[in-house]
Amino acid sequence: MTHGARIDGKAKAAELATRISSATGALKEQHGLQPGLAVVIVGEDPASQVYVRNKKRTAESCGFHSVQHSLPADTSEADVLAMVEALNRDPAIHGILVQLPLPDHIDEQRVTQAILPEKDVDGFHYINIGKLAAGDTADAFVPCTPAGCMLMIEDQVGKDLSGKRAVVVGRSNIVGKPMASLLLAANATVTIAHSRTEDLPGLCREADILVAAVGRPEMIRGDWVKPGAVVIDVGINRVEVTEGGESRSRLTGDVDFDGALARASAVTPVPGGVGPMTIIMLMSNTLRAAKLSAGIGD
Ligand SMILES: NC(=O)c1ccc[n+]([C@@H]2O[C@H](COP(=O)([O-])OP(=O)(O)OC[C@H]3O[C@@H](n4cnc5c(N)ncnc54)[C@H](OP(=O)(O)O)[C@@H]3O)[C@@H](O)[C@H]2O)c1
Repeated sequence: MTHGARIDGKAKAAELATRISSATGALKEQHGLQPGLAVVIVGEDPASQVYVRNKKRTAESCGFHSVQHSLPADTSEADVLAMVEALNRDPAIHGILVQLPLPDHIDEQRVTQAILPEKDVDGFHYINIGKLAAGDTADAFVPCTPAGCMLMIEDQVGKDLSGKRAVVVGRSNIVGKPMASLLLAANATVTIAHSRTEDLPGLCREADILVAAVGRPEMIRGDWVKPGAVVIDVGINRVEVTEGGESRSRLTGDVDFDGALARASAVTPVPGGVGPMTIIMLMSNTLRAAKLSAGIGD
């Protein structure tokens, strides 16, 4: 049985970080402009704290002006909206990200839609969703996770996916739907699967490009993978394992990695695949937002 390649998202993200850092240096030197990213976090969710810390660290390493606003869990929706409004007006801030999930008493859509579309580096504003759905991928701010997945797919298959069948498992607004829009814009023939889909294994076996964004550990089995397919595993699941009599937790994806690798041409690992690419695409979007704010093209 042949073995496919492990797609190294960490290495690819590091390569992109170098490019973004040097573009940031040039922007400062030639235009006196420093990209600014503001991250707002409400409450103490431990996973969110880790994500926000990573985003801040990466922004700083890219040479960005990086601001973090940590608000207590009982902050009112009005106060979060006031914070967003202030950041919308701040000329030193080009990208605004409100870390989700927000506490239950805050309407996530109201907050997300309050961010100016031109500072919406997460790509969650309806204007950006609409542009992407209309196929205007060059103009939209594309959500970071599918944007990162797409770069890894391009590396494996090329930019034009004409004649390729793509299956996206998961239909969330953050991953599944924008992923499908990007694949469609690249000319793939796209199917979106979800919890009501019948014969998911059979559907997956037809996919030249298989993207799993479900949130169920190793649900996609190796024998669901078409020989030679490219498999992108978006899932991040924490599972308890026992090793040497001791129980500890580890991260795993939505795909049985070893099983998939035995049939696929390439598979992303978890961790070290989609995760690092997601963060670097946030930096890429912020750099672009800064340039657009000053009328500098890509
Ligand atoms: N690597 C990264 O940077 C990154 C970024 C974002 C998310 N993630 C991870 O990606 C995973 C998905 O995230 P998400 O935000 O898209 O999750 P989500 O909003 O919970 O969506 C999950 C999707 O999976 C579908 N699904 C659930 N069970 C299924 C089943 N048995 N068969 C087929 N489809 C099923 C759901 O279908 P229904 O719509 O029918 O319920 C839903 O569309 C999570 O593990 C998350 O942690 C990773």
